[in-house]
Amino acid sequence: MPKITIDGKTVECRENIPVLRAALEAGFEVPHYCYHPGLSVVASCRLCLMQMKMPHPKTKELDWAPKLFPSCQTPVKDGMEVKFDSQLVHNNTNHVMEYYLINHPLDCPVCDKAGECYLQDYTEDYGPATSRMVEEKNKNPKKDIGSQTLLYQDRCVLCTRCVRFTQEVAGTSELTVINRGNRGEIDVFPGEPLENPLQANVVDICPVGALLDKNFLFQQRVWLLKPTKSVSPADARGSTVYIDVNDDRVWRIRPRFNEKVNEWWISDESRFSWQHVHSPDRLNIPMIREESALRPTRWPVVQEQIRAQLNTVASDGGSRVAIVLSPMMSCEEAWLLASFVRQSAPQATFVIGYVPVEGTDQTFPKGFVISAEKCPNRRGVETVIEQAGGPSASWDEFLTKAGGGEYRFALVTGGYPKAWIDSTLADTLRKIETVVLHDVWASALDDHLWLQLPSATWVEREGSFMNADGLVQPFDRALKPLDGVVGDGQFYYELAGHQGLFRSRKVRELMAAELPTFGEVFVPREEPEYAH
Ligand code: SF4
Ligand code: FES
Repeated sequence: MPKITIDGKTVECRENIPVLRAALEAGFEVPHYCYHPGLSVVASCRLCLMQMKMPHPKTKELDWAPKLFPSCQTPVKDGMEVKFDSQLVHNNTNHVMEYYLINHPLDCPVCDKAGECYLQDYTEDYGPATSRMVEEKNKNPKKDIGSQTLLYQDRCVLCTRCVRFTQEVAGTSELTVINRGNRGEIDVFPGEPLENPLQANVVDICPVGALLDKNFLFQQRVWLLKPTKSVSPADARGSTVYIDVNDDRVWRIRPRFNEKVNEWWISDESRFSWQHVHSPDRLNIPMIREESALRPTRWPVVQEQIRAQLNTVASDGGSRVAIVLSPMMSCEEAWLLASFVRQSAPQATFVIGYVPVEGTDQTFPKGFVISAEKCPNRRGVETVIEQAGGPSASWDEFLTKAGGGEYRFALVTGGYPKAWIDSTLADTLRKIETVVLHDVWASALDDHLWLQLPSATWVEREGSFMNADGLVQPFDRALKPLDGVVGDGQFYYELAGHQGLFRSRKVRELMAAELPTFGEVFVPREEPEYAH
């Protein structure tokens, strides 16, 4: 590993990275706008300039060169010596910041980016306290550039990150720079809006408040938001995300760097995968059928009833019992439910629930993938079913047998982001005498259910998902469950005979004894902030 000296301190760094990245990874603060590790290097913003020792042209001895070098464009080399903390560098940063503020509006009080804006931060840290600009500022129009995205051109610093993102990562090239000099603007081509499945990433990488998410516009001040580390449930890739919450509400989802899965990006599907969480249509009261109608009951009663019912219908070992484990469940929830059922019904059939698939996988130029499989944990649930042993069936096999009247009792789990049981499916499930449905939504099957149990969304749960490549990744709980709802993990934990609070880490330790795959979860490394 090369060793370089930054401001007199020797730093060991990774091979083939620019000095800027090495400095940021070593904890130095270096202002920068145009550099982003996921994009090509253009060295246009001139904020990251540094001093560097070079051989003197006459004496050939190493000495500080009189001009500055862009640290984002200079690769590390063993033995090199650079300086960011010098008067020459500070003067450059100060003058560059003054330049950026010439036309920038002072509208931080109404700007969504305030609080996480690198123009605000760098101005405070490196910029001049007052402006010498006496002319009228250029005023540029706000532009509606895409279905999710707005451009406030006045605020743009022309770093071109957004342009390079659409060219290099999305591969769609909708954005470009028009005009020249201080009239330069970001724009879309006529009649070609910013419309690609990764479009809202440009909002994250814009270092200032020029690109804004329409869904988040004027919704919250960012310093009020509390981030929680999670994993996207939108597809089988398992992109890692932050869920930003305030006042018991999710306000936005942002990408969380993951070197093995999604790097710095997420799909718009993942970004907006939380919107059903606050739907007024969600179930929130456990119901039991009494005298031909569903009536409210209590969670402890539900548990007693399920145990008693299972003991009755599984007196022969459970050959006419089916347990549908949804690919929306966490690995821990699936394992707890499977362990509980195997004790009283060793012959029960475990079924991998409905796996929604849309089209085919979409692969983007730099390798980002949106999976066609729209659920986060098919592989995890399949692994649990395999390990549990005993009879198992695919979703289609289960439907055929259910339609043929082979089951007397079924516990079906759902948890999909929208209602999924249509009348055809409901008609098939009606052939099962006793059905328990643990789900987020009411359905066409309600008139037949024995128990209707409200499920928590993944935002309100903790656990782990195994992605399509077999990577087990943990996610934390961002919100407490909706009033009246018990977290799915807690419910299955108690059903399986455990006492106390469900903690996914504790359950994974128990699982690891039977399933070493779950002994170690993958947690991505922390990346420095790249001005976004
Ligand atoms: S809109 Fe944002 S990301 Fe795009 S060039 Fe301007 S400042 Fe950079
Ligand atoms: S010139 Fe280096 S980050 Fe812009």
